[in-house]
Amino acid sequence: MTIAEAVDETPDTRTFRLTFQDPAVAETFAFEAGQFGEYSAFGAGESTFCIASPSTRRGYVECTFKKAGKVTTALSDLNAGDTIGFRGPYGNNFPLDKMEGANLVFVAGGIGLAPVRSVIWTVLDEREKYGDVTIVYGARSVSDLVYKRELEEWAGRADVKLWQTVDPGGETPDWKGEIGFVPTIVEKAAPSADNAFAILCGPPIMIKFTLPVLQKLGFQDSRVYTTLENRMKCGIGKCGRCNIGPVYVCKDGPVFSAEEIARLPQEF
Ligand SMILES: Cc1cc2nc3c(=O)[nH]c(=O)nc-3n(C[C@H](O)[C@H](O)[C@H](O)COP(=O)(O)OP(=O)(O)OC[C@H]3O[C@@H](n4cnc5c(N)ncnc54)[C@H](O)[C@@H]3O)c2cc1C
Ligand code: FES
Repeated sequence: MTIAEAVDETPDTRTFRLTFQDPAVAETFAFEAGQFGEYSAFGAGESTFCIASPSTRRGYVECTFKKAGKVTTALSDLNAGDTIGFRGPYGNNFPLDKMEGANLVFVAGGIGLAPVRSVIWTVLDEREKYGDVTIVYGARSVSDLVYKRELEEWAGRADVKLWQTVDPGGETPDWKGEIGFVPTIVEKAAPSADNAFAILCGPPIMIKFTLPVLQKLGFQDSRVYTTLENRMKCGIGKCGRCNIGPVYVCKDGPVFSAEEIARLPQEF
């Protein structure tokens, strides 16, 4: 695929908009929010990232990645006009069909906003199908917030309630959002669990402390969805890299309900 656009989100995080080199693939390629791909920097290898763009917009895919090691460093060195490899879409998706008519609560931390952003825009593109939309998003510091222009856009929409937060000490003098960890801000936002689903994604520690808050607010585990991030290689259930007991994160996931996660073996 061709990198049509490269945007620096934070000092170590970039977003690529990728367009298809084969017009026939561009015409037919479709995916669902929550699915992922295997992206390759030629000569360096492949990395797994979610598809961060909405399933309602065709002809391109976007990914947002953090510089972590070999492949992501090689990808970071590329720019608009360069070619990268892409395999996908793989995995299951957030069950948006089940969520029609319901209120939605999105909770994300750091780069965990990438898969959630795909769902948020998919929902906003078909806004009439859903009830209230509440978003709680936090990062370590103001400079670590990704998709800053979109956060501004959501903040200005009357049909979205956005709570932005940074960890204590991560604020700047002109920061107007909340200061505090994501679970605390979810508790403060106190979204109603009535006819609602929650979608959360972020570091394991954030998930661990947000789940009890959602439970306290009345969310049933079967109506709370998240994505898991085990190391992957093939992405299609063949190599046995990503399993948790009998469950393959690449094939059976990466999207699971909190109810399903509670049933997984303790190794997770
Ligand atoms: C379903 C799925 C979706 C993902 N979506 C995204 C995304 O949208 N954006 C993004 O930036 N990353 C995402 N990741 C994580 C991403 O795949 C890894 O960070 C990336 O492969 C690192 O590649 P690398 O070669 O640069 O680093 P490596 O050289 O392989 O590793 C660098 C360091 O990161 C650690 N590491 C590597 N992979 C993981 C992992 N999966 N979990 C925890 N630690 C890891 C290694 O142990 C090492 O310390 C996703 C992972 C999965 C499984
Ligand atoms: S990544 Fe190979 S089996 Fe899941």
